[in-house]
Amino acid sequence: MRTLTLTRPDDWHIHLRDGDYLCQTVKDVARQFGRAIVMPNLSPPVSTVADAAAYRGRILDCVPSGDAFEPLMTLYLTPGTTIDDIAAASSADFVAGCKLYPAGATTNSDAGVSAITDLYPIFEAMQKGQLPLLIHGEVTDPTVDIFDREARFIDESLDPIRRQFPELKIVFEHITTREAVDYVRGQSPHLAATITAHHLLYDRTDMLGSGMKPILFCLPILKRDSHQRALIDAATSGDPSFFLGTDSAPHPRSKKENACGCAAGCYTAHAGIELYAEVFDAAGHLDRLEAFASHFGPDFYGMARNQSQITLVEEPWTAPQTLPFGNEQLMPLRGGEVIRWQMMQTPVAPS
Ligand code: DOR
Ligand code: ZN
Repeated sequence: MRTLTLTRPDDWHIHLRDGDYLCQTVKDVARQFGRAIVMPNLSPPVSTVADAAAYRGRILDCVPSGDAFEPLMTLYLTPGTTIDDIAAASSADFVAGCKLYPAGATTNSDAGVSAITDLYPIFEAMQKGQLPLLIHGEVTDPTVDIFDREARFIDESLDPIRRQFPELKIVFEHITTREAVDYVRGQSPHLAATITAHHLLYDRTDMLGSGMKPILFCLPILKRDSHQRALIDAATSGDPSFFLGTDSAPHPRSKKENACGCAAGCYTAHAGIELYAEVFDAAGHLDRLEAFASHFGPDFYGMARNQSQITLVEEPWTAPQTLPFGNEQLMPLRGGEVIRWQMMQTPVAPS
């Protein structure tokens, strides 16, 4: 039986939600990951340091005893974000960056910005304060085909931002296209990209080819298989410009399987590292998983790598079909199906 021991990984992009949902998501992420960048798209959004401090406290209250999990908070950039908000974020050690959502691009993005250039004074302050900018990179023009929205964003918004702010650290989040891979390749330490497990494992035919599968609907939407292959090549290449960000994004089953529209988001926190292990193993590059999952993220953000380790074992298991989610049900990715790798449980030391 093959095993793989690696530095404890971090998740550089996750949605934990709040309220009744929070303790399920935190339990899952804290089991595997040392740290996670927590997305701010609550409703209302986490847009000030005070909001982030309060949310962080609620997250820490959910961390199971025995897990040492550190939430890294982000602020949601809105048209009302001020230079003072950025100064406060730069000096708050628990704030790791600010998230740009083009208004209307995805779940809870209504508070985002319509004219990205209006945020240039804010980007200037972020560059000065060395605060990374995390970007949901899709244009929102409804006349642009949904499969083209990421590629168009590169030319229309991302490249102009980079030219204007060459010292600003930017993470192009959850990339899904060959164009994004080509744009990001070799650009660390100023530009990097996260890649999700679901965009590595699936393409649009998996989602649409034999009836619409709501469980695979996310944004940016899954693309054709040639893009999936480009993502696999990038993730497993050993280029430090690409690192792990699950974009695990839970929605109750009633909102995913809904005749009036399907909420975008895939829940992968129950098996995050195991799903990536499958991809790296299938690509013949299991030896590169540790760098992607545990080294390149902290290196980019200027943080220390984790000290502890986890061990994965090639022992197939069946993921639960449903998980509790407040008073509702959550359908995790691969629920009821076999996942080839699993993380060995480390016994909690008696107190
Ligand atoms: O699929 C997605 N779900 N993409 C996002 O950008 C947001 C996320 C969510 O919050 O549900
Ligand atoms: Zn996300």
